[in-house]
Amino acid sequence: MSVLSTIAVVANPHFARLGGEAAVARLVSAFYAAMDSRPDARAIRAMHAADLAATKAVLVTYLCEWLGGPRRYTAERGAPRLGRVHRPFALDAAAADAWLACMRQALHECCADAALRDELMAAFTKVARHLATPVSDHHRKPLMSTTFAEPGLATTAFARLEAEGRLLNPVLKGPTRKPGRFGFRGELALRFATRLADEARPPELTCDQVIAVAQVGDPKLAFFAGYLLSFEHLKDVAEALGDTLGAGGKYFLFCNNIDLSKKYQVAMNGAVFYVLPIDEATVYNELLELFYLDKSELKKLDTAGKTDRVADAALKFDLGFDTITYAEGLALMGPVRNPNENRPV
Ligand code: HEM
Repeated sequence: MSVLSTIAVVANPHFARLGGEAAVARLVSAFYAAMDSRPDARAIRAMHAADLAATKAVLVTYLCEWLGGPRRYTAERGAPRLGRVHRPFALDAAAADAWLACMRQALHECCADAALRDELMAAFTKVARHLATPVSDHHRKPLMSTTFAEPGLATTAFARLEAEGRLLNPVLKGPTRKPGRFGFRGELALRFATRLADEARPPELTCDQVIAVAQVGDPKLAFFAGYLLSFEHLKDVAEALGDTLGAGGKYFLFCNNIDLSKKYQVAMNGAVFYVLPIDEATVYNELLELFYLDKSELKKLDTAGKTDRVADAALKFDLGFDTITYAEGLALMGPVRNPNENRPV
């Protein structure tokens, strides 16, 4: 099994437990049939078009993704923005109750596993209650999750990256020790390999040893550091991170083909990247050295605690290095090692 499919299965078995896409389609049909026939659902049925075919198809792709199945919804419609989609309907508690009643009935008809029914109803209830809360009452509380697996993460700059399946092999992907702060340590997928049939394949290009944090309610990443085999992939990082980059963020890229005596700053996509050399060391060790942090002191902390300490130091970092353009960096960088050269064929 490939890395990608392993993650999907381990992190989120609900899609398979329900019975895959065919079962999701049956559930959605039963759900709208209930909405069509239940007197308590008349008001919410009236919010929908007479012909439900298009709505049904969208809910199927959404639920497949939400349960951990194929990410077709995001591919076709972009990252889910349920708050925005439902805002015009000014949903209240009665609307949420009616929606949940339809879903409860549909689950009873379509899902024999009582434990799974309870888990799904608990998750649906959270989302429905949230959608029925006036926006003015949110007070930047965690918004509803866009994936079932990682409630909370969806309210941070990591949401889109997670929805696009870019946050791979995590040793940390969740809250840190600081209130409202989420951390990620793992690999960031930069370019995906073409999929052959249903076979999930590892990405073509990654940024490795990533250490990053984001604050709940802030669409920008506060801190990001990672390892690149070649400086030229800075462009791919800036593209993948896209709208999560902010002018105030602290971003560090350690590149294997930058002269060991040099340190640069490169502006890209409205953000400034510190570009630094790396030889045999790890990103973590390089950061400790850059920020004068005492390794032995951090040893007693867990991964989330270590991430906080490094992020806190990064947020205060304000040294200036030579500012160069991306094009100048391309001219200055050394030759790239072939990433596959040591791989058995
Ligand atoms: C609280 C009660 C709810 C009501 C009354 C409601 C009603 C609606 C209505 C009227 C639409 C527009 C349909 C259309 O354009 O044809 C819609 C879209 C949608 N709803 Fe709900 N909804 C509720 C809760 C939920 C919940 C709990 C979820 C997910 C778990 C959900 C998922 C969706 C999705 C995925 C769409 C389509 C979004 C898109 O256009 O990309 N809804 N809903």
